[in-house]
Amino acid sequence: MITYNEKAKTWKLDTPHTSYICALADGKYLPHVYYGKSVSDTDLSYLTRTDEGPFVPSVNPAEKQGFLDVCPMEYPCSGTGDSREAAISIENEAGQEGLELTFRSFRIIDGKPALPGLPASFGEPCQTLVITMEDTILHIAVELFYTVFDDVDVLTRSTRIINEGEETLFLTRALSVSLDLPEAGGEEVLTFSGTWAREHRPVRTPAGPTAIVTKSLRGESGHDGQPFIGLLSENADYENGKVYGLHLVYSGDYFGSARVNPFASNRLALGINPDHFRWKLLPGADFQTPEAVLTYSDAGLGGMSRTLHDFYRRHLIRQRWAFENRPVLINNWEATYFDFNTEKLLSIAEEASKAGIDLLVVDDGWFGHDRSEPSGSLGDWFVNEQKLPGGVHYLSQKLHENNMKLGLWFEPEMVSENSDLYRAHPDWVLKLHGRQPARCRDQYVLDFSNPDAVNYIILSIEKILKSAPVAYLKWDMNRPLCDAGSAYLPVDQQGELWHRHVLGLYRIQETLLSDFPDLLIENCSSGGARFDPGMLYYSPQIWTSDDMDPIERAMINEGTELLYPVSAMGSHVCKERNDITGRRVPLATRVFSAMIGSFGYELDITELPAEEKTLLPGQIAFYEKVMRPLILFGDYYRLASLADNGRYDAVELVSKDRSEAIVFFLQGLAQPNAKSTLIRLQGLNPEVAYLLEKVDLGTDADSASHEKDFTDGPALGGLDGGRLHGDTLMGAGLHVEHVREDFWSTMIHLVKE
Ligand code: DGJ
Repeated sequence: MITYNEKAKTWKLDTPHTSYICALADGKYLPHVYYGKSVSDTDLSYLTRTDEGPFVPSVNPAEKQGFLDVCPMEYPCSGTGDSREAAISIENEAGQEGLELTFRSFRIIDGKPALPGLPASFGEPCQTLVITMEDTILHIAVELFYTVFDDVDVLTRSTRIINEGEETLFLTRALSVSLDLPEAGGEEVLTFSGTWAREHRPVRTPAGPTAIVTKSLRGESGHDGQPFIGLLSENADYENGKVYGLHLVYSGDYFGSARVNPFASNRLALGINPDHFRWKLLPGADFQTPEAVLTYSDAGLGGMSRTLHDFYRRHLIRQRWAFENRPVLINNWEATYFDFNTEKLLSIAEEASKAGIDLLVVDDGWFGHDRSEPSGSLGDWFVNEQKLPGGVHYLSQKLHENNMKLGLWFEPEMVSENSDLYRAHPDWVLKLHGRQPARCRDQYVLDFSNPDAVNYIILSIEKILKSAPVAYLKWDMNRPLCDAGSAYLPVDQQGELWHRHVLGLYRIQETLLSDFPDLLIENCSSGGARFDPGMLYYSPQIWTSDDMDPIERAMINEGTELLYPVSAMGSHVCKERNDITGRRVPLATRVFSAMIGSFGYELDITELPAEEKTLLPGQIAFYEKVMRPLILFGDYYRLASLADNGRYDAVELVSKDRSEAIVFFLQGLAQPNAKSTLIRLQGLNPEVAYLLEKVDLGTDADSASHEKDFTDGPALGGLDGGRLHGDTLMGAGLHVEHVREDFWSTMIHLVKE
């Protein structure tokens, strides 16, 4: 709900539990006033302190620069006095940068305008405030969009910049959001780090006068970060504390920063990275920034996570799949790598089908002339009939006979030097003048600013999709961008290349989904290098990491779950000895761990011991019956963090009506001389009695005989099969026995009596 107070000249945007207020000051500026827990009054303009010396432009015009430099601004400009992080910067024809935005008008509309060419949130009920600012010298208008949704504590922001003059301008910075928050002291800034196989690690850094910057310069969001910046009150944890989270719906280079000024105000900023960005704005043209998602929680990090999870499921992921049962799949990558043929795939499918697996994903290697290693054929999106005689059609038919569907891997942004595509169009590759472009995984990046390249990709993927029923598409991207020069773009538009790459990527996925509305896309980038809200808009699940070792996944998942619904995490059961870490992990742990996500298998099930094969149907049945509904619809709680305590990890999923829950407990290394671990549950109904049951899928680690030999103490302190009230489970807690085995885990199912 959005209200305008005419007398105070303030706009107030209310979500169920938060308020956001901005105001008109001095008849022209747009200061930020308040963002936080809901407040009743609309006139909080006193908080801007624009009438407090020494910087008061209306009474002291000599101090205008000082005013611009300290005033909390909604959309700060570069070059005219505000020396903090600017949200916008524009270069004129004289090559000079600087602008000053002043108020022109505003309107409040029901609903939310779409952002052309960009993924963005949607859905009712919501309202949008559009405040139009202008620079009367450059003749530009800047529309600031603010949308609030009635059903969730989220506000979204984006900006449209319109050149209304006669001069050609260059946008050198156009962030999506700037947020000036008063600093209470002791806050921490939350960002993310990581690398391949160790993605999405949260990092907390004390907020202060030294800028904390998070960014990508890889042309994608990257393994090493998230297009996110958060601000946490001192000692905020999963249950307590105030948390602001800003998340960008974008999949390319992002920039986020936080810096406290000498007047104790912390400016958070987030948007497209201004490095690598220079956008030509012809007279009459406009530029739309990606959308930023803002949330505030006073229930700690857990509160923020649950809000974002709900928001993304209801308002960002396409509704076709957001709450729909996704297929349990088997992927052949770690089973075979490039070494497969139809016979091998069908042998996997035969076992998979007996187990009740719904879909076979044929990963990298099915296409082109020679894809027996990563060096060839990318770009040649036709079936390698030598490897797969009869092609995709035959394969899908055989799968259909086994009651299974087909999924196919693509890496559409890339091209191998050894490919028909490269031989025909060497100029479609990103390349800096006079330099040989770097190979990374032996491949080049296609120039998606060139519409011919984008159209070629659409046509070649659609040709395959039309040749046979393909239910699922894995979209991979195995190298970052560099050498970003385009043979297509003119000299003064080379600075548009990085953003145009992302727009090309979005256009392809949008086209595929509108032409094949039932297609399930799983995005992926060398594991989780492009796990971001932009990709989530197109694909309800994203490959979380190539690292499927449950111990590593516990830490990767913790960071991922901070921002994304559990259903968004592609999650597979790996081999007993993990290919990346070399660690051997018991089957129960690999299965339970993979069940925290959109579930599948990635091992050669034809080679599983007979007794393990017999367990597969039970695993799948349990996932489909109990886990999948909790993952699709439920609430997520983090109870313990292996990354923090070094000993164990615990997460809980609770149904929205609080009648059912699952707790997954994972032990790291077994401890000598250890007692059981006490965990306190969350999110249950305090008044209701729950029946407790250890989930037994027949695997060795949770079978009764195993416990007798290796367990210190009775299962769940003797409560397995017992009953306890929600208040007891949340207040006094539950004992999970210590088991003398590294990487042991257990799952507990709670059902309202
Ligand atoms: C990286 C992905 O993350 C893997 O799952 C697999 O698809 C390979 N690429 C194939 O090249």
